Amino acid sequence: MKKFIMFVLVCTVAFSSLAQAAEKASLPKGYGTWEKSRQKIDNDKKSLFYGIHYVYVDKKAMKAYRSGGLYPEGSMFVVENFNIKEIGGKPVQGKKNMIVLMKKDKKYKTTGGWQFVGFSPDGKPSGLDPVKNCYECHLKEAKDRGLVISRHTDFK
Ligand code: HEC
Repeated sequence: MKKFIMFVLVCTVAFSSLAQAAEKASLPKGYGTWEKSRQKIDNDKKSLFYGIHYVYVDKKAMKAYRSGGLYPEGSMFVVENFNIKEIGGKPVQGKKNMIVLMKKDKKYKTTGGWQFVGFSPDGKPSGLDPVKNCYECHLKEAKDRGLVISRHTDFK
């Protein structure tokens, strides 16, 4: 019986924190109006961003993105990723397949002070593990740039 009560307790805690995470995670409104990268093509089938993507950067993040330094709390980045099709040897943009968000928030200690969230193309959180599926790669690629991998210099 004791074991059963423990089990119920653990499930309730796990479930409510999951529900909380899902509730908190929503895409920032109006990110479509932020500064947007050029079309970026990734041909590596093993890459998370295999396809065609665009990086959106909000105003708060812009100073550090341009010239380095610390990102202020609330800084945000969004990436929209699309399928890629070869038509006549040229890459053509297909359907949207994923959206990802990074938001600077010191609460997220296990992921370097950034909230990492993956979304389905219709904007619902996809439940990816932010440590295993996001942070580890960002840490490896951009430890010295505040975990931000893309560069403003390749927007043009
Ligand atoms: C295997 C490596 C890898 C994983 C895993 C990964 N990313 Fe990234 N991420 C990248 C790369 C590479 C870029 C830069 C793309 C560019 O230069 O256009 C990037 C860029 C981003 C950006 C734009 C800001 C920046 O750092 O340039 C966001 C937001 C982002 N990723 C969120 C996420 C989220 C959320 C997850 C987990 C669901 C995730 N990423 C998982 C490699 C990864």
